[in-house]
Amino acid sequence: MPRIAYVNGRYVAHADAFVHIEDRGYQFADGVYEVCEVARGFIVDMPRHLGRLNRSLTELSIDWPVTPGVLPIILREVVRRNHVADGLVYLQVTRGVASRDFAFPAGTKPSLVVTARKADPAAAAKRAESGIKVITVPENRWDRVDIKSVGLLPNVLAKQKAKEAGAQEAWFVDADGTVKEGGSSNAWIVTRDGVLVTRPAEHGILRGITRTTLFDVAAKLGLKIEERGFSVAEAKAAREVFISSATTIAMPIVAIDGASVANGHPGSITLSLRHAFFDVAEKSPA
Ligand SMILES: Cc1ncc(COP(=O)(O)O)c(C=O)c1O
Repeated sequence: MPRIAYVNGRYVAHADAFVHIEDRGYQFADGVYEVCEVARGFIVDMPRHLGRLNRSLTELSIDWPVTPGVLPIILREVVRRNHVADGLVYLQVTRGVASRDFAFPAGTKPSLVVTARKADPAAAAKRAESGIKVITVPENRWDRVDIKSVGLLPNVLAKQKAKEAGAQEAWFVDADGTVKEGGSSNAWIVTRDGVLVTRPAEHGILRGITRTTLFDVAAKLGLKIEERGFSVAEAKAAREVFISSATTIAMPIVAIDGASVANGHPGSITLSLRHAFFDVAEKSPA
């Protein structure tokens, strides 16, 4: 079955989906993106993702590529045309195509690309049953990681390092040893008293949509959350550790830099958050 992508107003075969060589996303990483989970035929938390997209666009003074009400229709259509019941839908907006010059060009129309991809929920469930490993790397990103920009080279390098170390995620760590977030996820621990801890999202990390929805899930499960920084040492000694993102939901971490977390098995609180997530999240039929 051929995959279909949306590119600037047209639905085209994935293999023929191109943007211009002078697209500013290609030349300057001058663009933003969103990834929504698709689960059981629903796009998960789409309004929150589009709200964050609006914030990212506003912070970078990039115009909406289509009227905001039209974007959900395009996302649904790409998911539908690719027959994705479980997987993800990806959207990217760049400042558009212009002759290469650093300052914003005048009168450029933003580029919009949307793709969708299937994923195997059974494989994800299996990963969650065994848990995944993280390594830590020094924070080396710019100051505006609260914007979901396509400028992800430090994340690429960190995640490659994780892969080479046999791990699945890399945590960026501040000079004082405080964990910031993963290359493509937010970081959490569960204390000995069963309290969830995650770093405040006002500054220095991306405010994950999954993170936000997990606050709702925790409230439903009667779990307490403390928004504060935690160190690598505190994480290594924690009762449970997990990451969150649209593609992993709550995913148990069983080792940090090669050292086992707790008994080396996924924690029960993490798994209860994971299992309750879909019921609590907002679901838009695809
Ligand atoms: C750097 C970073 N932090 C956190 C997240 C988690 O965000 P969300 O839950 O919206 O997927 C992501 C997702 O890609 C990310 O790239």
